Amino acid sequence: MKTLLFASGNAHKIEEINAVLAPLGYQVQGLHALGLQEDIPETGTTLDENAAIKAAYLYEKFGKDCFADDTGLEVEALNGAPGVYSARYAGTPKSDANNMAKLLEAMAAVTNRKAQFRTVFCLIEAGEKHFFEGVVTGSIAEEPVGTAGFGYDPLFIPTGESRTFAQMAAAEKNKISHRARAVADLMSYLKKRL
Ligand code: IMP
Repeated sequence: MKTLLFASGNAHKIEEINAVLAPLGYQVQGLHALGLQEDIPETGTTLDENAAIKAAYLYEKFGKDCFADDTGLEVEALNGAPGVYSARYAGTPKSDANNMAKLLEAMAAVTNRKAQFRTVFCLIEAGEKHFFEGVVTGSIAEEPVGTAGFGYDPLFIPTGESRTFAQMAAAEKNKISHRARAVADLMSYLKKRL
């Protein structure tokens, strides 16, 4: 097994990505397994920058192949906001309910509801950075619907659907999600390495 360090403390994400990469011979180690309890600060102004900052932090500390991700909800009528600031759109401490309320308020008079979730991965392999991306397009609902998932899921209706992500089973969302597509992009690169 080759080891890949992952700049995330989110056990669910680590498990999900481990399941996908294990058949390729990779074992993913998250921050806690590396003895790091704190999240790595995201000080960039784009998703690419944040993913690169977090991956570089691990590479400098451990000198091993590693990767990091960053995700944002990009709303067309808001010029891509909340984007890289999605997690703390309504301030700290972060709150999904407050973030959704702020987004609905910003869109109160907006008829163009088009939006997309975008995930970027930065892989540092033998000191070289490589970027991977996954996008799911959709629209912002008029009010939150559904209880599954997290974040902005109750407001996001993927293209071709009438339900929000929060009305879908996890397996259904994970087939089409931005993160799943970004992982697939990363995976097809790693597959070529076999
Ligand atoms: P992260 O980079 O994965 O931590 O995502 C940043 C923020 O984007 C999260 O705190 C959520 O607010 C939002 N987000 C990311 N992925 C999703 C998703 O799959 N559904 C809903 N919101 C998401």
